[in-house]
Amino acid sequence: MKKRVTKAIFPVAGLGTRFLPATKSIPKEIMTLVDRPLIQYAIDEAREAGIKEFIFVTAKGKGALEDYFDAAPELEKNLRKKNKIDLLQELKATDMDSGAIAYIRQREALGLGHAVWCARRLIGNEPFAVILPDDVIASEKSCLLQMVEQYAETQGNIVATMEVANDQVSSYGVIDPAEDMGRIISVRDMAEKPDPAVAPSNLAVIGRYILEPPVLKRLNTLKRGSGDEIQLTDAIAEEAREGAAVYGYRFDGQRYDCGSKIGYLKATIAFGLARDDLKDDLTGFLEQTMAHRRAAE
Ligand code: G1P
Repeated sequence: MKKRVTKAIFPVAGLGTRFLPATKSIPKEIMTLVDRPLIQYAIDEAREAGIKEFIFVTAKGKGALEDYFDAAPELEKNLRKKNKIDLLQELKATDMDSGAIAYIRQREALGLGHAVWCARRLIGNEPFAVILPDDVIASEKSCLLQMVEQYAETQGNIVATMEVANDQVSSYGVIDPAEDMGRIISVRDMAEKPDPAVAPSNLAVIGRYILEPPVLKRLNTLKRGSGDEIQLTDAIAEEAREGAAVYGYRFDGQRYDCGSKIGYLKATIAFGLARDDLKDDLTGFLEQTMAHRRAAE
């Protein structure tokens, strides 16, 4: 029988040092694109893909992230009193059922592979998704839904992938392709943050994964890799090398690296421009700013 993906892991334990000093007191996943926190985009994407259980791997200092998913009866009462029905509806759309979210603590910052491994008991013997909220993907159909549909056809492990510039590969997990079939690529091996001179391709892994339970078992015994951390890429690569099905999936959509300042700024502008209530003002402002810059040059 074909297996379905109903659980997703959200590794949110990272320190967010690239956004200091802001991340001294707020988790980076709470930072907003326009008015929604990064984590909300990740949750919405997962919900669209049919995910029912949301597993957050958190760490010290992430309290605001847990609070974000609490019910807000006072606030709702207030909005109702002021007849702010739109806002009320928007708030309602972010409600999560009690018990839908589980929080697991990662006690030591030992890397993405370790964070995923921390959720092993909640995953059990089922396929599962991993979503890195730093990677925000704007698309008509949610990226994870695209992958879940692919999984229904092929099963196996699936990682989102896209081509990046050759000098960028050292920021990513990189696929060593066996066969490129267009939408999907069968994977022979993978390398985490390789030197561009020895990278197996320029197919970068983007933060969406559908993985099968043997990957978790690999993580039990995995040695530290790139950056002296336990790497998820390494566990998937071991699986591929030993003959398990691993695919890269070229998704439809625009990916923003919201773990970097420039990616975050680009996403802020793109998401602002996509909003009917903001696009005209924002366009005018951008045009004016560019015109001033050009005049000053
Ligand atoms: C992580 C993964 C890497 C992947 C990247 C995508 O790296 O380890 O394989 O390509 O996410 O964003 P990080 O950006 O957390 O260093």
